[in-house]
Amino acid sequence: MVPKIHSLGGYIHEYQKSLTNPESFWAEIAEGFHWTKRWNNVLEWDFEGPSVQWFSGGKLNITENIFERNLYTLGNQPAIIWEPNNPEEPNRTLTYTELYHEVNKFANTLKRLKVGKGDRVAIYMPMVPELTVAMLACARIGAIHSVVFAGFSAASLADRINDAEAKVVLTADGGFRGEKITPLKNIVDEALESCTCVETVVVYQRTKAKINMLEGRDIWWHDAVAGQSTECPAEETDSEDVLFILYTSGSTGKPKGIVHTIGGYMVYTAYTFRNVFQYNAGDVYFCTADIGWITGHSYIVYGPLLNGAQTLMFEGVPTWPNPGRFWDVVDKYQVNQFYTAPTAIRSLLSLGMEHIIDKKLSSLKVLGTVGEPINEEAWHWYHDHIGRNRCPIVDTWWQTETGGVMISPIPGIIPTKPSFATLPLPGIQPIIVDAEGKELSDHSVKGNLCIRFPWPGIARTIWGDHARFRETYFSTFKNLYFTGDGVQRDEDGYYRILGRVDDVINVSGHRLGTAEIENAINAHPLVNESAVVGYPHPIKGQGIYAFVVCGELSTGGEEGIRKSIKMAVSNLIGPFARPDLIQLVPGLPKTRSGKIMRRILRKIAEGDASNLGDITTLLDEEVVVKIIDGALVEVKR
Ligand code: PRX
Repeated sequence: MVPKIHSLGGYIHEYQKSLTNPESFWAEIAEGFHWTKRWNNVLEWDFEGPSVQWFSGGKLNITENIFERNLYTLGNQPAIIWEPNNPEEPNRTLTYTELYHEVNKFANTLKRLKVGKGDRVAIYMPMVPELTVAMLACARIGAIHSVVFAGFSAASLADRINDAEAKVVLTADGGFRGEKITPLKNIVDEALESCTCVETVVVYQRTKAKINMLEGRDIWWHDAVAGQSTECPAEETDSEDVLFILYTSGSTGKPKGIVHTIGGYMVYTAYTFRNVFQYNAGDVYFCTADIGWITGHSYIVYGPLLNGAQTLMFEGVPTWPNPGRFWDVVDKYQVNQFYTAPTAIRSLLSLGMEHIIDKKLSSLKVLGTVGEPINEEAWHWYHDHIGRNRCPIVDTWWQTETGGVMISPIPGIIPTKPSFATLPLPGIQPIIVDAEGKELSDHSVKGNLCIRFPWPGIARTIWGDHARFRETYFSTFKNLYFTGDGVQRDEDGYYRILGRVDDVINVSGHRLGTAEIENAINAHPLVNESAVVGYPHPIKGQGIYAFVVCGELSTGGEEGIRKSIKMAVSNLIGPFARPDLIQLVPGLPKTRSGKIMRRILRKIAEGDASNLGDITTLLDEEVVVKIIDGALVEVKR
């Protein structure tokens, strides 16, 4: 079992231990897992390369640590509890034994499709148990999964398939989300028009939509698994072999394939899951994220299953058939730990109390949030009305690149404070630096959040681009991992995340690069150039504000062009990246050397032009006045 912290004294003790001897701290936790060969070194690292290796030389298979290690005691216990989109449709439960058999059958299927160790498998699936089966089947045979969120467009999917050179794509005929049906297979077909690496597409039948099956390339999931054995020996993998690639946005246009390796990720997700949620045997745990993002990878699939937990997977959306859906699910399965994003909380808060008052919610013990800063109003609403003043809230700060939670209260142990992620978990050494990289060591400070020592869940590289990995995370401040987040530390030593300090925005908990959105807008034939910034949005946290310069207007006029720009972004990235506000402007504020001054646009979008700072270096100061005059938000001058 993964060790659990039981008291504040225990936390302080563990934290100290992890500082004074990080290697023995993590080795002790790793001992609890099944290794077919023990590691040679616990940790080798340098942040210059950068190169980080945990448990190197160790051999294991992560699925043996989920199944074989647990089956004897947990075989008949639910592993996955699946709640479908439509509450009228029967739910499904897979016990550990059943999941194990499904994983083995699909692992054998992949082998038959000539997928082997190190091969990449792209997964573009709805939230059905087979998505988890697919990921674990890859892990069983040492293949690398690359899950692409099923809200991405064909163009984005194609980029990701090509970047990873995936051999096989796993998808479904379609996916249900609320009243909408996403035609996943059609999107895959379109994506594959620009991919030559894919040999096979396996299609899970979910919506029964009519689709085209390409002879020789496409096969149905049920046909492919038919007759496969429920036994599949686990491939022995190295601790530092790649477990998965997951793409995330950065400040340049091209998404980054973040790479996580097996041993460290396993130890880190298992340890953090158990402690951050204080999970106990028999509890039912519900994370509302989509598995297409890191939260789903680490805290629907790997963290919970490595702990033998019952993990609830929900196919639908929070507001369908009505805004009480999450709470119905909580009551139906007697959920004990509930983990969601602040944007969902804000949206449900705005829809009124009538969707909560008749719910019991008495099974809840711990509430979690992730993905973006939570404002105090949402925190209190969550605490008072969902947690009924009984449940601690864990505001968990982490990133795709960190693999697991880094800064978070331990519920019931570390006193919480609204909007603060509170204290680092054992093993995590945050440091706040100023713009020059000088450490701000006092308690009450604000600055850039970095981490000065490796932890097992840290990403190892960007797929195919180690130089970019170094450049993005390890070159801004020497010998530190730079998170890209601004942070405040208060007099109690508590951390509060202030948001991104780079050109990344966080919209409804979705991380988007402004450059990525600009590229999509600029691809529109009538657009000359554009600049995208975030602005405060009451539900989404940040909304997307696009300043766009057009050559001429089409016949549809301004409204027409706004609509077609939104459509272009939907087509190139996905509907979740559509700008909320599009202001057509005569020009962008630029320095004499031609650089767009985003700082000015950010201020305008935030509604405060009273203090724009020095604008004398601008090529054309007049343009700023015109932008303020035409702004789509109220601007204080
Ligand atoms: O800005 C931080 C924000 O989300 C970013 C990471 O996004 P992503 O890689 O998509 O992972 C999201 C789920 C782990 C961070 O750089 N963020 C994440 N958690 C919090 C947060 N901001 C404030 N408070 C949090 N608890």
